[in-house]
Amino acid sequence: MTVKYLPRPLSAAALLVFAAVQAATAQTAAPFHFDAATNTFRVDAADTTYMIGVNENHQLQTLYWGKRLSAKDHFARAKSSPGTSAFDPSEGSTPQEFVGWGGVLYVEPDLKVTFPDGNRDLVLKYQSERIEGDQLFLSLKDVSREVYVTLAYRMDAETGILRRSAEIENRTGAPFTIEQVSAGTWNIPRGTDYKLRYLTGRWAAEWNVQEQEIHGGKTTLESRRGSTGSQNNPWFAISHAEANETSGDVWFGALGWSGSWQITVEQDTLQQVRVNGGPNAFDFAYRLQKGERFTTPYFYGGFSSTGIGEASRKMHRLEVNTLLPRPSGSALPKLRPVLYNSWEATEFKVDEPGQIALAEKAASLGVERFVMDDGWFGQRNSDHAGLGDWYVNKQKFPHGLKPLIDKVHSLNMEFGLWVEPEMVNPDSDLYRAHPDWVLNFTGRPRSEGRNQLMLNLARPDVRAYVYGVLDKLLSENDIAFLKWDYNRNWSEPGWPAVPPEDQKKVYVDFTRNFYGILAELRAKHPSVEIESCSGGGSRVDLGVMQFTDEVWPSDNTDAFDRLSIQNGFTYAYTPGTMMAWVTDSPTWVNQRTLSLEYRFLSSMQGSLGIGANLNHWTPTDFDTARALVAQYKSIRETIQRGALYRLVSPEHQSEESVTESVSRDGKQAVTFAFLHSSTELYPYPRIHLRGLESDAMYAIKPFAGKLAADTPLTASGSYWMNRGVDLQLRGDFQAAAFTLERLD
Ligand code: DGJ
Repeated sequence: MTVKYLPRPLSAAALLVFAAVQAATAQTAAPFHFDAATNTFRVDAADTTYMIGVNENHQLQTLYWGKRLSAKDHFARAKSSPGTSAFDPSEGSTPQEFVGWGGVLYVEPDLKVTFPDGNRDLVLKYQSERIEGDQLFLSLKDVSREVYVTLAYRMDAETGILRRSAEIENRTGAPFTIEQVSAGTWNIPRGTDYKLRYLTGRWAAEWNVQEQEIHGGKTTLESRRGSTGSQNNPWFAISHAEANETSGDVWFGALGWSGSWQITVEQDTLQQVRVNGGPNAFDFAYRLQKGERFTTPYFYGGFSSTGIGEASRKMHRLEVNTLLPRPSGSALPKLRPVLYNSWEATEFKVDEPGQIALAEKAASLGVERFVMDDGWFGQRNSDHAGLGDWYVNKQKFPHGLKPLIDKVHSLNMEFGLWVEPEMVNPDSDLYRAHPDWVLNFTGRPRSEGRNQLMLNLARPDVRAYVYGVLDKLLSENDIAFLKWDYNRNWSEPGWPAVPPEDQKKVYVDFTRNFYGILAELRAKHPSVEIESCSGGGSRVDLGVMQFTDEVWPSDNTDAFDRLSIQNGFTYAYTPGTMMAWVTDSPTWVNQRTLSLEYRFLSSMQGSLGIGANLNHWTPTDFDTARALVAQYKSIRETIQRGALYRLVSPEHQSEESVTESVSRDGKQAVTFAFLHSSTELYPYPRIHLRGLESDAMYAIKPFAGKLAADTPLTASGSYWMNRGVDLQLRGDFQAAAFTLERLD
């Protein structure tokens, strides 16, 4: 078994975790077929077919990616494109699966290298194929040098999403430098009316859905920040212009990498669209030693013939069914417990009596996990000091964490703790002892962000320290959950301790060590769950999701803003990972006042948490919250594992937003509806549900807001989908929610 990303050597325990994940995924892959007569490879799953051929120039060429073909369809041998002229010859216009920079190539390459003799020409030719288990491996080799590339493909049987990666192997007998590398190229069928959707954002305003037409030239989606970032998220969708939420062909994909990354979308001179992606080539170089192999992150790609909504549901299913961590022997990830988090209530002013008071109140609401946020360690009284010193602050917790943890347990809740392990404040014991442990260029300024510097996790000693403190924390305390935060991006990314020609490896080695620590911690402490938080949604991607159970989409907890933020998030990621807290009103973000019920309904579309200062709540607030927490528990399986339909999108300043989730067994559907502001006596738009069985009967039950008076108590799926549901929603910032239960 090849294990991706992890630095060698791996502990046996870490390997076991990976073996378990891989075993879980192995059952759900589609078989590849090789036709030796035509030298073509084919895989079909769900409504998708993908075909590759070897052409007369021994290049690997995409033959087809799209709606599933009949088993009776056969493709002829692949034939390269003739190109258009001496200016744009065949190499650039043949839709190759993986192309080296060499020969006559002007499109974005998948691999660019420099050899020690100055040669930079790399022309890869197909060598051999291997179908092993559920994977197809295709090998390429440079025309003269011993550079081998093995492409690995695996298609998820339920969604038809293909997972690709490339392994570069150096058998030349000397090191060479990788300057750019991608998992491979996705070739979209030729078309001139394509539209690209992607996600942009910033702190407190993540997950904006962008749309732009694709014309000649190149668009690069990227992060140069050292981590995923929220400015772009590594996800894309390409469709014909007329495609929408419910109809049309959509090709989509996401890169599983939490370091600096890039995805390029390029329309070539023949108006063919190609997409490739991997670690960002900017400021990157990886010296591959002789005998060494470099494996790229996974690049996932899928196809939907029924619009962007189905593209998202396929992503969600892939994440829930195969990617997210799950307890050993379990087919699905655990349902997210309802949590309480102290951050917005106390900020850094945490102490034992204060946390206990909050815990008691949280428990009375039905909260299942109590999480103490920032401020519990070192001299952490503000964001100016303490990061790096992961020992309990004795003024705040004179007897350590045990009394608080015991109290939380006695209240029938799990205990969770905030950490930010990759960071250090200059005002900390750790930095005073190890100023050389941070990313820096010798003799140059060290820029701070939130008064903190970035530890260089690529260094073996830093990796060992970070693993050590977290392992100790988890071994000495009964902690069920870590909120793993990361509150700035990189600057001055120097690594003076290694030779100059190896310093740019930092982009990859840092991320590999991050994954390695997560994997090892999970192996040693299998019941501990982890949230990926980065000052909000700056480290959310399919790479980190292999090791973390949930993510924090945004520090913006304004329940109205959250409708758009959560909407954008669900284009790529499942609501099962999307943490959403109910916080205080007026919100710190906009000073907007929203009812407690509205705030709950907004958060209940994801994984529910509470982050308000419960000391300020009235008895009525507690009653409202208690009822809605109980309600959430009765629908969370549908929300977290079901199929999401974005019925009315809050995009483009829409006055309304409606989501519906249908459970996997089809027995329950849950709908949330929000109104920004009603005007001129217009009624709330009728809601047409989706994903129900036409002939089955369903009983409707509102749990917030009112249905129109003429709504029947029961009706068929066909009625709810075609005739629809009317709500009595009027006013500003109003919300309603109802369930449909199938009557068997
Ligand atoms: C940023 C996170 O997103 C917040 O939820 C909180 O944990 C703070 N960091 C704590 O410093």
